[in-house]
Amino acid sequence: MNTETSQVGGPVAQVVDDDRGHTLVAASTADDVTADGDGKIGAAKGVGKLVGQRALDAGITLLDTGDFYGMGHNELLIRRALGDGKRKHAFISVKFGALRGPDNSWGGFDGRPQAVKNFLAYTLKRLDTDYIDLYRPARLDPDVPIEDTIGAIADMVKAGYVRHIGLSEVGADTIRRAHAVHPIADLQIEYSLMSRGIEASILPTARELGISITAYGILSRGLLSGHVPNANAKGDIRTLRMPRFQGNNLARNLELVDTLRQLGTRLNATAAQLAIAWVKSRGDDIVPLIGARRRAQLYEALQALNLQLDEAALAQIDAAVPTGRVAGTRYAAAQLAHLDSER
Ligand SMILES: NC(=O)c1ccc[n+]([C@@H]2O[C@H](COP(=O)([O-])OP(=O)(O)OC[C@H]3O[C@@H](n4cnc5c(N)ncnc54)[C@H](OP(=O)(O)O)[C@@H]3O)[C@@H](O)[C@H]2O)c1
Repeated sequence: MNTETSQVGGPVAQVVDDDRGHTLVAASTADDVTADGDGKIGAAKGVGKLVGQRALDAGITLLDTGDFYGMGHNELLIRRALGDGKRKHAFISVKFGALRGPDNSWGGFDGRPQAVKNFLAYTLKRLDTDYIDLYRPARLDPDVPIEDTIGAIADMVKAGYVRHIGLSEVGADTIRRAHAVHPIADLQIEYSLMSRGIEASILPTARELGISITAYGILSRGLLSGHVPNANAKGDIRTLRMPRFQGNNLARNLELVDTLRQLGTRLNATAAQLAIAWVKSRGDDIVPLIGARRRAQLYEALQALNLQLDEAALAQIDAAVPTGRVAGTRYAAAQLAHLDSER
């Protein structure tokens, strides 16, 4: 995806050139998130309008999901949000490949060509659409060459079911190999004030190849907003599995957030808004993925896109959360071991 910044009717938004001139800011659509159920956190079952619908109403047109979020339920919610002829205004990005069980368990990843077509067939049916704007494997399947997985999606592009191909959480070598099979439009990967790992080789590689970045975890799973889950919150994957939310690490990280919050008071913004604005400032080729689960969070995040921050302010934000002082890794060691992006 080629991106440029533009002011379109309200929020300053990332505009993605998807051949139809759409206005895009990424919004995740975690309306149906269940505790520990889908890699995201907590519960916000659709009361009233769906977050996805509100995002569309607010001028956001990029909706990001995974077919394994709620085992297809999140796609069904997006289908509802896309009613009333809204499909043509939306850019839908879907991750696939994660295997689930009826007990919410995880069973690895499947990137085999026949699995790609199977996953896609079900997604198209659930979303009630003829095509997916951007389709990507959620993780590298260690048993399947990336060339085979991308080749299968490329077949689906030729057949008209997919418009663009993306990747998620892969490293520079895999990006190059995939791009050699079919142009890769976008890489989804964690990037925030607290997780800057991509700056070493992944981001330069993406830029060299003209691949945009959909940055997720821009609030480090909410940590950068200062709102952390109750230590006793049942089933919250942050306290259960994420080192940054545990023990002394949490206390140390909250000190950094406090510095950010104090800076926000001077800059007339919340800590979360500064964290979002920082990601956005890193380049027009970076689309911040807003992990909003509630209306207030969505609107707070959208306001961050209107913040006018000069170089000095951005440098102060940068300095408030020095990477060397962030305590704990972004995932637990067992999960990091599965990430191609961490090799
Ligand atoms: N490709 C991948 O491997 C991958 C992996 C994980 C996620 N993702 C995608 O990225 C999206 C976002 O990631 P994420 O949810 O893990 O990380 P995130 O955006 O860093 O954090 C989202 C959390 O921050 C809190 N939050 C959001 N807006 C806020 C606001 N304005 N003020 C205060 N707190 C706010 C919420 O927590 P509370 O509800 O507790 O307040 C929310 O659950 C996901 O929905 C998913 O689509 C992709």
